[in-house]
Amino acid sequence: MSLPLQDAAALRRLRRQLLRWYAANRRDLPWRETRDPYRIWVSEIMLQQTRVAAVLEHYRQFLLRFPTVYDLAAAREAEVLAAWSGLGYYRRARMLHRAAKVVAREYAGALPQSALALRELPGIGRYTANAIASIAFAEPVAVVDGNVERVLGRLLGRSPGSAEVWERAERLLDPERPGDFNQAMMELGATVCSPSSPACGRCPLRRSCSTKGRETAAGKLQSKRLQRSAVLGLALRGESILLRRRSKCESLMPGMWELPPVAARLRKKPLLTVKHSITQTDWTVRVFPASQSASLRGGRWIRLAEVSRQPLTGLTRKVLRKLELLP
Ligand code: ADE
Repeated sequence: MSLPLQDAAALRRLRRQLLRWYAANRRDLPWRETRDPYRIWVSEIMLQQTRVAAVLEHYRQFLLRFPTVYDLAAAREAEVLAAWSGLGYYRRARMLHRAAKVVAREYAGALPQSALALRELPGIGRYTANAIASIAFAEPVAVVDGNVERVLGRLLGRSPGSAEVWERAERLLDPERPGDFNQAMMELGATVCSPSSPACGRCPLRRSCSTKGRETAAGKLQSKRLQRSAVLGLALRGESILLRRRSKCESLMPGMWELPPVAARLRKKPLLTVKHSITQTDWTVRVFPASQSASLRGGRWIRLAEVSRQPLTGLTRKVLRKLELLP
């Protein structure tokens, strides 16, 4: 075990190396230019299960539309979901909205300042509470996401269990600069200590690392992704398009609007073929022109001018953009 947890001087050196690396290499990201806890909260929710590149434009638009926690609390759920469209994992948006109502009503619009109190809010677990508390309020609490877990696992030379990984992270944390330290660990995992080809030559922690680029068995994860295909129908009538609403009881994207499924047109060329990845599945989706009657079941005609304000699934938004039916 070469993690310098017993040796106070080595621990201080590791923190210093990581923070120096972070100061020189941190990406300029919009949530790093603010101390506003609401903005930091929104960023941490969006960044769960979602890459930075995919979050950037949504983050900007979301905060233009809901600049304060009061604006978010006052919005209708459909508006919040529409602003979230394309980010996926819509439960996050619903919980964020619910929590914003609690903060507006019970906390006079100011987020509670401790990790423990933050965890009382809907949609805020240990990871998010610790991220907000350390970054916005400098509380010395560690953050563990997938990136941090990988960095710690490589430093240690084995995959620690989930209780141990949190304990290791807490002991490594720099209590003087917890927000920067946590972001530095996540940044290192995202940009240097990557899953399949870690750039150990550029790593500020290589001297303390057990693995130094040698793959551990746990590092080589098999892809668990499913490959699926689907066929969707595009029916247009005047200035309207036929969409259907997913049931409120669906586990994925309940209540959101999408193109109706239709039977595949053998030997016909689709209007469009798109690849779309959600959760554990890579979809190949073909879109055919649909006759208006065939696909009417459960569908509704919606004016194209109004479509972008509806909560569309990310796939639907992607298809309609590619067909230039949405801006
Ligand atoms: N992933 C989630 N939040 C992050 C942050 N604040 N910095 C870097 N990566 C992150």
